[in-house]
Amino acid sequence: MQISIEVVLGLREGERYERLKQLLPAIFQHMRSPMMQVGFAVPFVLRDLGLWSPWGYLLQLKQEIYQLLYAEVQERREQADSSRTDILSELIFARDETGELMADEEVRDLLLSPLLAAQDASAVAIAWLLYWTHSLPEVCEQLLRELDSLGESPNPTNVVQLPYLNAVCNEALRIYPTQLFTFPRRVESSTEVMGYELSPGTILMGCIYLLHQNKDLYVQPQQFKPERFLERQYSAYEFMPFGGGTRSCIGAALAVFEMKLVLTTILSRYQLALVNRRSEQANFDGLMCYPASSIKMVMREINQRQSQPQHFVSGSV
Ligand code: HEM
Repeated sequence: MQISIEVVLGLREGERYERLKQLLPAIFQHMRSPMMQVGFAVPFVLRDLGLWSPWGYLLQLKQEIYQLLYAEVQERREQADSSRTDILSELIFARDETGELMADEEVRDLLLSPLLAAQDASAVAIAWLLYWTHSLPEVCEQLLRELDSLGESPNPTNVVQLPYLNAVCNEALRIYPTQLFTFPRRVESSTEVMGYELSPGTILMGCIYLLHQNKDLYVQPQQFKPERFLERQYSAYEFMPFGGGTRSCIGAALAVFEMKLVLTTILSRYQLALVNRRSEQANFDGLMCYPASSIKMVMREINQRQSQPQHFVSGSV
């Protein structure tokens, strides 16, 4: 979450940063609360009956987040610092095809999805990575061997290019894509897709999970086999954990970069073990694919390698 706040807003400290750090996870926690789950099944419950009602509380959280984001947008607009590289700065200075800047409200609205996506989807993907690498010791050993091949103090740029590491990350995103579906698309003019006539207004959502389980593309799709990504190059529409087309995920490169550096930092510094030896089930919860019983791990040892400077992940990205 700290990485996401920094990448999206460029904030690392301060009152606003601290409050967002509390509010953003509170939204997720609340969305998964039993009351909200009941509400999704019986929409009648989802009415604003004040702060003590589930929907009212959600609106309150959202409003506070929006106020903080709006204040940040206004302040940054006044500062007009074009040297900053966060997403907010990009949006503040972005111009549309007529040369117009976006209104502050528009910029604020665009900030929420990357803020939420950047922490939830990435964190779930990293949790799955830790699970696979620790339930299949041969995968972990091969990763460590590959990492060793880079010598004592590998440069993060070289780490993220390691082929087996890349294959492991891809396979984790294939077998349980943290986001099960693409966002919806609306058909604009009549068309035909695979024999289906689609009329204007039809809403379509791609099911990433089903695509990744297609036996014609992936032999033994239920098995975790990183080698498949070394043996074959999959096209953008055969492997699509980040969706596809012009509205695909804007954070894909960052997410994979983050996954690789977090995983290799942890593996090279600590020996962890899964608390639960049973295989982890996927919980298909709405749009996401969570580990059903969370992935609880214990730290067995700090690796000897820790004496080497292995700080791929630091306070900044
Ligand atoms: C492992 C981590 C992530 C996964 C699996 C993931 C997956 C996805 C998917 C499947 C979509 C829908 C794309 C489509 O409909 O074609 C999406 C959209 C999006 N993602 Fe991600 N995402 C991840 C991380 C991130 C990060 C780190 C950010 C921000 C820095 C981000 C920001 C967004 C945004 C803003 C959209 C909407 C794009 C649009 O509507 O044009 N995501 N993501």
